[in-house]
Amino acid sequence: MYQHDVLVVGAGLAGMRAALAAKQAGADVAVISKVTPVRSHSNAAQGGINAALTDRGDDWKEHAYETVKGSDYLGDQDAIEVLAQEAGRAVIELEHMGVIFSRGPDGRLGTRHFGGQKRARTFFVADITGQAMLHVLFEQLLKAGVRLYEEWFVTSLVKENGECRGAVALEIASGKLQLITAKAVILATGGCGRIYEPSTNGLIVTGDGMALAYDAGAPLMDMEMVQYHPTTLKANGILITEAARGEGAYLLNGKGERFMEKYAPTMKELASRDVVSRAETTEINEGRGVNGCVLLDLRHLGRQVIETKLSYINEVALDYLGLSLAEQPIPVRPGMHYMMGGIKTDVHGATFVPGLYAAGETACVSVHGGNRLGANSLLDTIVFGRRSGEASAAYAAERDAPTVPESVVADEERRIKALLDRSSNGDNVAKIRLEMGGVMNENVSVFRREEGMKKALDTVKRLRERYDRVPVQNKGKVFNTSLIFGLELGYMLQVAEAICASALSRKESRGAHSRVDLPERDDVNFLKHTLAYPTNDGPRIDWLPVTITQWQPQKRVY
Ligand code: FUM
Repeated sequence: MYQHDVLVVGAGLAGMRAALAAKQAGADVAVISKVTPVRSHSNAAQGGINAALTDRGDDWKEHAYETVKGSDYLGDQDAIEVLAQEAGRAVIELEHMGVIFSRGPDGRLGTRHFGGQKRARTFFVADITGQAMLHVLFEQLLKAGVRLYEEWFVTSLVKENGECRGAVALEIASGKLQLITAKAVILATGGCGRIYEPSTNGLIVTGDGMALAYDAGAPLMDMEMVQYHPTTLKANGILITEAARGEGAYLLNGKGERFMEKYAPTMKELASRDVVSRAETTEINEGRGVNGCVLLDLRHLGRQVIETKLSYINEVALDYLGLSLAEQPIPVRPGMHYMMGGIKTDVHGATFVPGLYAAGETACVSVHGGNRLGANSLLDTIVFGRRSGEASAAYAAERDAPTVPESVVADEERRIKALLDRSSNGDNVAKIRLEMGGVMNENVSVFRREEGMKKALDTVKRLRERYDRVPVQNKGKVFNTSLIFGLELGYMLQVAEAICASALSRKESRGAHSRVDLPERDDVNFLKHTLAYPTNDGPRIDWLPVTITQWQPQKRVY
């Protein structure tokens, strides 16, 4: 048995920033991660991190307002104010830690344009911003002496008298289950992108923290709000950063027209993501696409800009399409990218379960509401990672050590053994995972209708029944990745069910939840958050009012 004050689950940007803050606040901190920390999915973030720095005449209120508008007025404005006000500090802190942000010709930190924002306020490291930040934070974690449980997979949270008091985890290398107690636990496990196929998300992004919290009694908020990024590669869903359009790239339809002029006359390609994804899908559905895609044209930016500021996506285009961005437009289409919903928290990362905190994509504070602005996710990880680290350390300082019995490990051992003991029945984990991904991508995506969402919910329910009988192929103990895939699938199906049930409950169109059968936003009845709780009959949906401070809902035009 291991014991700490604060246990952070997940070693992406939110987890690392949380761990560092808790450690600096004097707590004994450990981080547990199912992968080597620098393989966490934050590594894949390309475009940048938003902040309104006053040295260039920017104003946090403008950033906050554009985030509220981007969220289609579903974001909680008190939380958005915190995000925008603390953004400058977050970027400067990262720079001081060692993140080598790209600079402008005047030598100051450079910025680029991102969608839904009139000013260029996105700080960046070429098109590998997440990777640059992740490596620097990892160095800081090592320097601070934070304990790491690397390649350990959390199978359940443990509670004592209603408080979260640690976790049981599988040490992947040995197959041994271990109990780690803690006075507070922070979930920072990222999103749940792989519930959809394809997705821009890494294979490891399987909603683990969302499912763990949901099981432990912490509701999932706004799970219907799933972001489709406008520029992903058709075959495999790989992300082509919004920074391309921020630097000036055009979107063209099959007739060579810059079609965004029709849908967003002012912001065009830099309208918010939900608007651009809907425009692209409309062009494709109405026969003006190119083999199920539209074209992203960067040629006019010239080689110099492409090779210095967008070199990673240039490599992606060369490797996967055999095309150079300086010479040819590339086919792109909307693809699942981000989960705006997640574990409901306050602005300190506290969930409804005492002692349980969440930060980053796994959480819903909520600063993204119905649609997240590009480059606000890295900001969310840093601002609310730090806040949850500080708050959990303060909480832990007031608590006695947990007295969780070792018998909780035996209960988990029995559950895992039952999974391993199942005999072959012709079904397998990969088949179920692919069916789930397909049905979600078809029915709970850019445009939705009642019938399709019901089909997705029914299918997920049937897949859950199959999951209860599915065998795990590899029966061994050492580095049993088929067992991990099996456990991850259980998490994903639970979260998928919450997504479908939440989507069916929202009988309007708002942000990423665009219903063909109910195309209007309905502020009278639905200016409120969904909260999903598990029951034996599937998710129960409750509602919570949206917090409005200074921006009343208005018609959203770009
Ligand atoms: O397009 C991108 O670089 C993605 C950024 C984000 O999702 O914030």
